[in-house]
Order: sequence, then structure tokens, then C-alpha cells
Amino acid sequence: MKTVENLMLSFVEEFDNEFIKTLYQRIPSGKKLRTKLILKIADKNDQSIKLASIIELIHMASLLHDDVIDEADTRRNVDSINAIFGNNRAIMLGDILYSKAFYELTSFDEKIAKVISNAVTSLSIGELLDVEFTESFNSDIDKYFDMIYKKTASLIEASAITSAILAGKDTEKFKTYGKNLGLAFQIIDDVLDIISDSKILGKPALNDFKEGKTTLPYIYLYNSLNTDDKLKLKSMFKKNLTKNELDWIKLNMQKTKSIEKSVKLAKKLGLEALDAIKDEKNPELEKVIKDMIEREF
Ligand code: FPP
Ligand code: MG
Repeated sequence: MKTVENLMLSFVEEFDNEFIKTLYQRIPSGKKLRTKLILKIADKNDQSIKLASIIELIHMASLLHDDVIDEADTRRNVDSINAIFGNNRAIMLGDILYSKAFYELTSFDEKIAKVISNAVTSLSIGELLDVEFTESFNSDIDKYFDMIYKKTASLIEASAITSAILAGKDTEKFKTYGKNLGLAFQIIDDVLDIISDSKILGKPALNDFKEGKTTLPYIYLYNSLNTDDKLKLKSMFKKNLTKNELDWIKLNMQKTKSIEKSVKLAKKLGLEALDAIKDEKNPELEKVIKDMIEREF
């Protein structure tokens, strides 16, 4: 993990610009799920470390842009780059990291470069869909899955496929593994927005709904309510809610088992991911799924 962080920093140092380095060092480091995956699929070597660094830079750039889009003041419990330095600098830092990542990607085989490039197009389309969803209440589960596949699962899937290519392993198996892991990861993230303490999340609880994001638990909830309550839930969409209204949502989430159903679906996807790689006999890769499903529950 440290080697990947070091390589990312040395890419940034190549710009020979103190301000960029200062901005970069204010970005909080995350869980590095994609790196874990890559190093466990392709083992630790120069190529896999470089691939992981590129993908982490792309992920970082996407979060810099996402925080501008979501007008988020914090990321991982600390002030976001846009909150400290403003939207313009956050956007440009994202562009710098993103284009450096693509420059470094040109040293890889064309097959790898194509998978990653397509995933970045996909994640950008996913983010656009996410923005579109905030225009009106979405109760369509298929649309939700299409959006989270593009926004989140695509880059995780690409990490699994490209590291399998590096290691000469079966790409189809790892594609299924990465896709299902990515989908489960986003569902759990959406569930945590509702059930976690705001201190753990680093953002207010039930923030997604306020931001206009009708995530899976809200879709299940909506589809289990009677006509009057459906209207009531819709009327709360994208609003600053009172404590009573927040409690009403939480109570009905419980009554309708919407959280339980969402977690169950994430676990089912996790099991499908495990099944795809069962012949690989790689306990560390299996642990990634188990840890993800069990985090904060
Ligand atoms: C987080 O979603 C956002 C993403 C996983 C992807 C964002 C993608 C873009 C902004 C496109 C970027 C394009 C380039 C070229 C780098 P979230 O808001 O649901 O999660 P959060 O709670 O972590 O903010
Ligand atoms: Mg966001």
C-alpha cells in the first residue's frame, strides 16, 4: 500500500510545482479498495504497483469532481479540497491528476488502456445519471442499478480485469468478481448513509436523500408504502428535514425492512463475487468481499 502511495506522490512531484503538491497532500487518503484488489490479483510487482497508482489517481480525481458536484464540505471526516481551496482549484487538480494518470497509462498494453479508458467514460456517465436523478424522485430499481454500475462498479470491475490481464488470469471470472463487488460496495455505502453515525460517515446522516439521491433503501421503502405515505415520502425529497421527518423515514425503513432487504441484496452480490473466483483459491481476495459486507454492521 505504501509503495502505491509513494509512486502516486512521485508522479505528483514530477510536476515540480509546490502548490499542486500542497493541494495534493491535503487530499485525505482512503481505503484503497482498488489497490487491494489489484495487488491481490496480480501480486505485488512494478507493473501492478503502477497500475494501482494510476487507478487510485483516477479515483481521486473523480472524487475531487464529485465533491464539487455534490457541494460537499467534507470528505472522510476532513474538509474537502473544494471547501478549503474553492471549486476552481478542486476541478483543476482533478484534471491534472486525471491527465497524468492517462499519460502513465500509455506505457501499458493497449488492452489494459482500453479497459481503463472505457471505465472512466462509464464512471463519468454514471455521475451524470446520478445528477439527473436528483431532478426527480426515482423509484425504478433498474435505473438505480444501471447508475451505480457505471458510477462505482465500472472502475472496480476494470481494476479486476486489468490486473487479471497483467497476471495472465481468466478475465471473465475477475470481471464478474469486480462488478459484483462494486455493486455490493455502493449498496452498502448507501445503507451506511442511513444507519451510520454522522461522525463515522464524516457527513450528516440521511444526507443522500437531502441531496436528491433516492438510493436502494428509499426505493424499497417507496415501493412498500401506501399511496398517502408514498406522497409523503416524495414530498420530503431533497428537503432539509426536521427531526420528526427523519424519524418517520427511519421508522418506516424499519417497518418495511428496507435496510435489511438492501443489505441482503448486497450480500447476495458479494456471494456471487465469491462464487466467480472460487476456483482461484485466493483467501485474501475472498476476505475483501467478507470485510466489505461486514463493515460497520
Ligand atoms: C462518488 O459518488 C462518485 C463517484 C464514485 C464517481 C464520480 C465520477 C465523476 C465525478 C466523473 C469524474 C471524471 C473524471 C474524468 C475523473 P457519491 O457522491 O455517491 O459518493 P460519496 O458519498 O463518496 O461522495
Ligand atoms: Mg458525493
